Amino acid sequence: MQQSKPNAAKKSKGEVREKKLTARNADKHVLYQLSVQAPETDSKTYARWFKRYTGRDLRSMREDFCGTAVLSCNHVKNHKDNTAVGVDLDRPTLDWGIENNVKKLLNEEQQQRLQLLEKNVLDVTSPKVDCVLALNFSYGVFKTRAELGAYIKTVYKSLKPGGVFYMDALGGPDVMQEKTDITEKEGFDYHWEQRSYDPISHRFVCAIHFEFPDGSMMKNAFVYDWRLWTLAEMRELFEEAGFDDVHVLWEGTDRKTLEGNGVFRRKEVGDMDEAWISLVVGRRA
Ligand SMILES: C[S@@+](CC[C@H](N)C(=O)[O-])C[C@H]1O[C@@H](n2cnc3c(N)ncnc32)[C@H](O)[C@@H]1O
Repeated sequence: MQQSKPNAAKKSKGEVREKKLTARNADKHVLYQLSVQAPETDSKTYARWFKRYTGRDLRSMREDFCGTAVLSCNHVKNHKDNTAVGVDLDRPTLDWGIENNVKKLLNEEQQQRLQLLEKNVLDVTSPKVDCVLALNFSYGVFKTRAELGAYIKTVYKSLKPGGVFYMDALGGPDVMQEKTDITEKEGFDYHWEQRSYDPISHRFVCAIHFEFPDGSMMKNAFVYDWRLWTLAEMRELFEEAGFDDVHVLWEGTDRKTLEGNGVFRRKEVGDMDEAWISLVVGRRA
């Protein structure tokens, strides 16, 4: 299971002892999944929202920029009729996902309901699905309006009538600061570095590093060179692609911590938060 702790080593009496994580023995994909993904919950949340939007159960979904495809695996597990397509152009990442997620999370029958495509998301329009997800801001690789617009049109063509597209977004003045946020995880620290932000092009370079209790660091485990897209631009591109009912789901704020509370609501006007995460949603007519 991807949520189980990494590198658990068996002791002689059958008791499981945690091997201390270090930069040398840790696996960056395991740490990434533990740091930024909650696939069991998320796969159910997107399905619940889909039901609210369409009145139907979510059966076929596509995960664009799927990386290790852990969300797709969870969707397939959630119901015997669920199918998923994961699209990513990085072969080694897909292979890691097959070995560590697909083969460990899914039995043979479930594996038949998952298709992984080593492709550019710009080139995939079939099979047609009920829902497409573009998460963790990965579409930031598209640096021009023409490219992002072409991607959103490709998604539109990939959806069955009534299908739903979810695309997440981040922003706020904090995101435009050169800084590193450090979050303590079990056995390691997760570093999110905002390396540079160019106010003219909106080019946004960021990186993930991991730090371990012995002081060792896995630097630049992941480096992203993105454009920071605004919600206004994204909404316009959804509409230009033909999506209906285009709107933003905005995350509420926890009154005590003043951080996101995980509850997303449809809003026409956002809050002037220091940093925010939200989703743009559109439906194919
Ligand atoms: C930030 S990771 C996202 C992984 C996963 N979707 C998640 O939510 O955590 C970005 C992934 O997008 C993939 N990628 C980047 N450009 C792509 C493209 N044009 N088509 C398909 N995959 C792409 C990369 O190989 C990488 O695995």
